[in-house]
Amino acid sequence: MFENATVFVAGGTSGINLGIATAFARAGAKVAVLSRRPEKVEAAVARLREAGAADVLGFAADVRDYPAVAAALAQTRARWGELDVLISGAAGNFLAPAAGMSSNAFRSVMEIDLLGTFHVMRAAYEHLRKPGASVINITAAQSWMPSPFQAHVCAAKAGVDQLTRTLAMEWGSDGIRVNSIAPGPIEGTEGVARLVHLS
Ligand code: HXC
Ligand code: NAP
Repeated sequence: MFENATVFVAGGTSGINLGIATAFARAGAKVAVLSRRPEKVEAAVARLREAGAADVLGFAADVRDYPAVAAALAQTRARWGELDVLISGAAGNFLAPAAGMSSNAFRSVMEIDLLGTFHVMRAAYEHLRKPGASVINITAAQSWMPSPFQAHVCAAKAGVDQLTRTLAMEWGSDGIRVNSIAPGPIEGTEGVARLVHLS
């Protein structure tokens, strides 16, 4: 079903997002991944090739940097044509009480999760297949479940979900589906290491 489909995964170089990218690769899709660290991008590209992707692209960029995100999406479009699937999953997390959190700490997570998801969606819009594309934002239970020491993450993920609902309405008339998925805790991931297995 996804053979030769074109898939872009922001934050797709580790954990859950790399798992999603790998599943698309195994199904024979063309898969692009983007994250900050070049060594993670390189390793993910190799893994996706091994998994059987029809083609693979990797971009070292920060989702907070709009021009860099836009350039990656434009290069992907130039190589493969319109995008069938867009996934936005870059995120930051740490436990911190709100009363002691710096302004920059709160801003960092808001900018990676929420502004980053806006950047990815905004830059991808002109490259999405219309009709037929699917956008999936990766959110978390913190979006609706208040969680102590997670004020930054709760605010950011709630924003991602409301952005998702709003753009589902705006882009529905183009035939683009916009959804979010909130995974449960997934063993072996960075998120669980930071929130569950505290050492
Ligand atoms: C308090 C902290 C902190 C901590 C960082 N800061 N860690 N404050 N407690 N543990 C503060 C810093 O002091 C700084 O503020 C500000 O945050 C920015 O820090 P930087 O390191 O300069 O930011 P940056 O390099 O942009 O890194 C972003 C990051 C980092 C979020 C801080 O942890 C990161 O890159 N994370 C990506 C990987 C990740 O978190 N994966 C898990 C996603 S799981 P000052 O004021 O000092 O300048 C998830 C949900 C999981 O989202 C759900 C599981 C059930
Ligand atoms: P992870 O392995 O840390 O994945 C985060 C990815 O985003 C990495 O590829 C990371 O690579 C990239 N990234 C982080 N900041 C970025 C930035 N500023 N610009 C570009 N890329 C950036 O985390 P995970 O635990 O698998 O979580 C993945 C997603 O699932 C997140 O959206 C998270 O909120 C959600 N989630 C996770 C769990 C869980 O159990 N783990 C539960 C619910 C929801 P670089 O470091 O190279 O940038």
